[in-house]
Amino acid sequence: MVRYKRSFASDNNAVVHPKIMEALQEANNCHVLSYGEDHYTESARERFREVFGEDSEVFFVFNGTGANVTGLASMTMPYQTIICTDYAHIHVDECGAAERFIGCRLLPLHSEDGKLRPEQIMPALSAVGVEHHSQPGVVSVTQCTEVGTVYTAEELKKLAQFSHANNLLVHMDGARIANAAAYLGTSLKAITADVGIDVLSFGGTKNGLMFGEAVVFFNRKLAQNYKYIRKQGTQLASKMRYIAVQFDVLLSSRLWLENASKANAMAALLAREAEKIPGITITQPVEANGVFVSMPQAAAERLQQRCFFYPWDKEKSEYRWMTSFDMEEEDIMEFIEAVKAAME
Ligand SMILES: Cc1ncc(COP(=O)(O)O)c(C=O)c1O
Repeated sequence: MVRYKRSFASDNNAVVHPKIMEALQEANNCHVLSYGEDHYTESARERFREVFGEDSEVFFVFNGTGANVTGLASMTMPYQTIICTDYAHIHVDECGAAERFIGCRLLPLHSEDGKLRPEQIMPALSAVGVEHHSQPGVVSVTQCTEVGTVYTAEELKKLAQFSHANNLLVHMDGARIANAAAYLGTSLKAITADVGIDVLSFGGTKNGLMFGEAVVFFNRKLAQNYKYIRKQGTQLASKMRYIAVQFDVLLSSRLWLENASKANAMAALLAREAEKIPGITITQPVEANGVFVSMPQAAAERLQQRCFFYPWDKEKSEYRWMTSFDMEEEDIMEFIEAVKAAME
């Protein structure tokens, strides 16, 4: 692979995987019908059925915010509440898109490790049936969480069972679900369809695609009107083949796992080396491709001059370092040297 300068700010900063570039090029040699009526899209749909089961149904969209908003719109009525964590991307990083376009209230619950658990949700159910209160409708989890932790299959199953028993649907923001499956050593199905997730936003962009995400329905009833929601939600691509063909390659060659495993391994190495540096503390378990550290602000600012990354919690002097599939050990060690220099 050609060498590029690496960034630890976000896995969105990574390149497009060369195999994805090749697939885009290959799909670029003839006219096909638009809006998904083409053989590339049909083939990608088939790949999703192989991975997630015959009962699943997939729709392709442009981006993660669009996947979340349109997916959630198919699961809710405007008088309902979407329960999530206070770190949730839908709550913090989507400019209020869910509230604006779905009309639902979001209920962010505090969570140190980014995970939701039944006992946190229980108090939010006290007003079920009371017409003056927004009604809990959906529990939205993020896998991997925004702080790089990973729900186990058991944790998800417990949460989904609790949710369904209380008439709540379960949505998963899976922008980094590949990293979660790679960490757990499970299939993608084992942490979605098999544990009771109703609708999944399946991430592609952070794992090697140029762009494109997928909304996967395990609860087929919810998929019935989704095509209208997607179109009205401005997420229907006319040149659908260019999203679909990327997913086809990502899933059929297990490139998803290769890329996610690589990104995770780079984060593990980064964490191992960083914790040896006096003054650096790792603040969250490193389970996927995010490393959260606290370090003196002045040192972080010196380091950011050389290699930009985002602050996570300014008050705690906590920062987020993300790794991606296109990093090599030498990129990590080079960054570690820069960290050491900034800490001197
Ligand atoms: C947890 C999570 N969900 C969703 C997204 C997708 O966002 P976008 O709309 O930028 O594709 C991101 C991207 O950073 C994310 O981190």
